Amino acid sequence: MNLFAITGNPVLHSKSPILFDAAYPSHADDFAYFRLAAQSAEEAMLLFDELGLSGINITSPFKSSVAQLADLRSPEVQALNACNTLTLENGKKCCYNTDIFGVSGSFESAGVSPAGKRCLVLGAGGAGGAAAYALHSAGGVVTIANRTVDKARWLAESIGCRYAGLDEIAAIAPQADIIVNTLYQHVDVVDEAWLKPQHVVFDAIYHGSKLREKALRTGCKFIDGTGWLLHQGVPAYRRFTGVEPDVDSMKKAALTQKLPGHISLIGFMGAGKSTVAPLLAHLLGMPAVDVDATLEARCGASIPQLIGKMGEAYFREQERIVLEEALASATPTVISCGGGAATQPQLGRRLKERSIVVWIYASPKRCVSRISVDTRPLLAQHGNPLQAAAKLFEKRKFLYAKAAWMLVSSADRSAEQVSLLIYDEISKAFHG
Ligand code: S3P
Repeated sequence: MNLFAITGNPVLHSKSPILFDAAYPSHADDFAYFRLAAQSAEEAMLLFDELGLSGINITSPFKSSVAQLADLRSPEVQALNACNTLTLENGKKCCYNTDIFGVSGSFESAGVSPAGKRCLVLGAGGAGGAAAYALHSAGGVVTIANRTVDKARWLAESIGCRYAGLDEIAAIAPQADIIVNTLYQHVDVVDEAWLKPQHVVFDAIYHGSKLREKALRTGCKFIDGTGWLLHQGVPAYRRFTGVEPDVDSMKKAALTQKLPGHISLIGFMGAGKSTVAPLLAHLLGMPAVDVDATLEARCGASIPQLIGKMGEAYFREQERIVLEEALASATPTVISCGGGAATQPQLGRRLKERSIVVWIYASPKRCVSRISVDTRPLLAQHGNPLQAAAKLFEKRKFLYAKAAWMLVSSADRSAEQVSLLIYDEISKAFHG
């Protein structure tokens, strides 16, 4: 069982889970990949250990901080102080930088050789460093320009290239052959007047950018950031699995964007699904449906009564019907599932097909401390509910992961904070 995740800014890699989903059909039964909503590198690493993940992709703003927290760093990570791929090897967290391949692969696919070309890289973050490294290695004459010149200087000295401040690019950009932009989406520093049709422009932002519009209007050769996403994903996947991915499927997936419909909340009992659902629904202006509450209203009995009288198999069938109905609704809805729903055969896949699935996670110990065990028949029937919860969670963990698009920890967060975090991640990922 191999669990993988991605963490960092959702705007920058909202397509990664789709990409990896597309890559693994050949060994789908032991591989799951989801997004990990963490607010710091420390939280991401804590969840990495607690969940027993095998690997993680990292994007801005955690590329340097995760590299510092890892046990072993590849030579490229040491040179750039940034990683984007971390794998567990013999119990050690080893980190790599496959962004470099993202850049070199994009230039290769576009048929552009950087050898001997004057290259201007805008931005000295993890992506900027990788671009400079790749272009320099391919024989380009690279200048890294950044607002904070010290960061550009550090990178330039490490790689062996030039550096400048952003205030100097008016003189550098018109003379360059290749311009690579790795600055944030809202930062727009390239004047259209500097561009000429001979320029090759590469933008790491793949959601559309001002630079892209300017480059296309001027008639420059434009390389889209989607290729970067794909070409960094292929070696990351190889590191994760030791297997060659299906690159064509990944490519197709990178070009399509799943549109948000319903949002389903899954996770263990006591994780906070029912409390978070109405808060999230309110933030999104959507209705909320609680599968267990709907079922109780429909049957005129509580869940413990229903399971006690009719048995778990009957309950599961009713749960499936209510959930299928909610998923079939044309009105986008926040659906709060019972703790076992995503683990029912086929239902996890169904949830993933029809909704953005958010796994709300807290450790079994914390979950049990939050609930009244009497109201949870699956735990109440055991002498040691905590042990039963831990065992059940271990059995379900992979199925939750398989169904999930994203995991949010509710460990040290109020329901309001959890709903805001989900709201934030979803709006960034799907609405830019
Ligand atoms: C269950 C979780 C419960 C409820 C039923 C079964 C489970 O919902 O559906 O007791 O299998 O984990 P909550 O997760 O809302 O507690």
